[in-house]
Amino acid sequence: MSAPQPRHIVAIDHGTTSTRAIVFDDRGRIVSSGQREHRQYFPKPGWVEHDATEIWRNTRLVIGEALGDAEITRHDVAAIGITNQRETAIVWDRATGKPIHRAIVWQDTRTQPAVDALAAEGGIRRFAAQTGLPLASYFSATKIAWILDHVEGARERAEAGELAFGTPDSWVLWNLTGGASHGGVHATDVTNASRTLLMDLEALDWDDELCAAFRVPRAMLPEIRSSSEVFGHADSASLLREVPIAGILGDQQAATFGQAAFEAGESKNTYGTGNFLIVGTGAEIVHSEQGLITTVAYRLGDEPPRFALEGSVAVSGSLVQWLRDNLGIIRDASEIEALASSVDDNGDVYIVPAFAGLFAPYWRPDARGAIVGLTRFVTKAHLARAALEAVAYQSLDVLAAANAELPSPITELRVDGGMVRNELLMQFQADVLGLPVVRPEVTETTALGAAYAAGLAVGLWRDLDELRELWAEDRRWEPRIDAAAREHGIARWHQAVERTLDWVE
Ligand code: G3P
Repeated sequence: MSAPQPRHIVAIDHGTTSTRAIVFDDRGRIVSSGQREHRQYFPKPGWVEHDATEIWRNTRLVIGEALGDAEITRHDVAAIGITNQRETAIVWDRATGKPIHRAIVWQDTRTQPAVDALAAEGGIRRFAAQTGLPLASYFSATKIAWILDHVEGARERAEAGELAFGTPDSWVLWNLTGGASHGGVHATDVTNASRTLLMDLEALDWDDELCAAFRVPRAMLPEIRSSSEVFGHADSASLLREVPIAGILGDQQAATFGQAAFEAGESKNTYGTGNFLIVGTGAEIVHSEQGLITTVAYRLGDEPPRFALEGSVAVSGSLVQWLRDNLGIIRDASEIEALASSVDDNGDVYIVPAFAGLFAPYWRPDARGAIVGLTRFVTKAHLARAALEAVAYQSLDVLAAANAELPSPITELRVDGGMVRNELLMQFQADVLGLPVVRPEVTETTALGAAYAAGLAVGLWRDLDELRELWAEDRRWEPRIDAAAREHGIARWHQAVERTLDWVE
């Protein structure tokens, strides 16, 4: 008698603050998970680094935890999916497997001078037609060049093919498939590659002129593959040995996939460290006039790619962490909802969390954060409320930008991520948008999206229609405030945003 077919998928979700492994069953339900936070390094103002070795160690640990909790072995696992914080740059030595520098994280702004120098000719949209991206320190290219310029001998070694670059998906894939000792697979998927400023969106390949402009040797770049195909198999040293790694998507694209938002006009908003709104544009590459990014949504095997517009907001959940860690007005992030609910309104206070400038739709690296409207009346409860409102207002700005680009406006917003448990925030989001906000039953849509991509590649699921049927609504918030109150709040928010601009000397 032959062994039963494996019916589980392990999704590795490596985010900005932690790495998780989640075991899903063939209905897309969570069976178990393991999670480890990794250290954040802030060596200088504006710098953010991670230790890639710690990330790989944590990846192995969480896989073990998740398999143990589910009481399953590799024989029960049909495939592995990987999803990741995007843009973060890791450069490692192919022979030793060791990173040559700590990972430079997407939030890191150290390369702003290099960005300014490139933008001096042609402005921040200099490479937008080809890459879909504005020039910003957010994306990988200038981070890679910084490492090559600051680690002795690195540039020559990269040109000689001795060094490898990868976003965290690529790093995890390479290690999981054997790393330096067993010929690890050096690849990435189109969604991650589309965040580097080095990939041509039409060709879906690295572009020599872009590589030259950013001074990144092509020899160090991973192979670009689709989001759903067998990339390789887990190495013999892994608890998942011989299991295929069959799905890779950047985390925001993965969340969109996990929300079953596959088609043009379908959208989602994720509330994580930052906020990321994505709306599909189907087979069409739409270039935004409104400050949105054009990105690859997904590509399944040899099928044509799907594209999307994205509104990336740098700071949302991390604003709550800042209230906790830097101001100490809450001890735990979960306390913010009760504190904010203890007052009726924001006391006319607005917080604009432009800690590292403003991303979409403004793209103003010269902005810095502000709390405006302070009076003696204001308490920490008003600040807590203003912080949650800032998260919602930033999403309003990117949704308005998306609506200006789309043939028909977004009519409801699917939400996911850690902050969607905050009911005050969700109600406020519906109020400021004037649209229903809808939360699915499975809010771990990032990991789920990676699991879906992997499961599709190995035939655990048939097609997108089958995945669409697995999506189920948990809760819906309808707008409740009147138009005048809504417009007043939005106008005050924009006044506050104005005050943060031109702050950097
Ligand atoms: O572009 C950055 C994004 O991928 C990070 O997502 O979930 O780690 O905040 P997250």
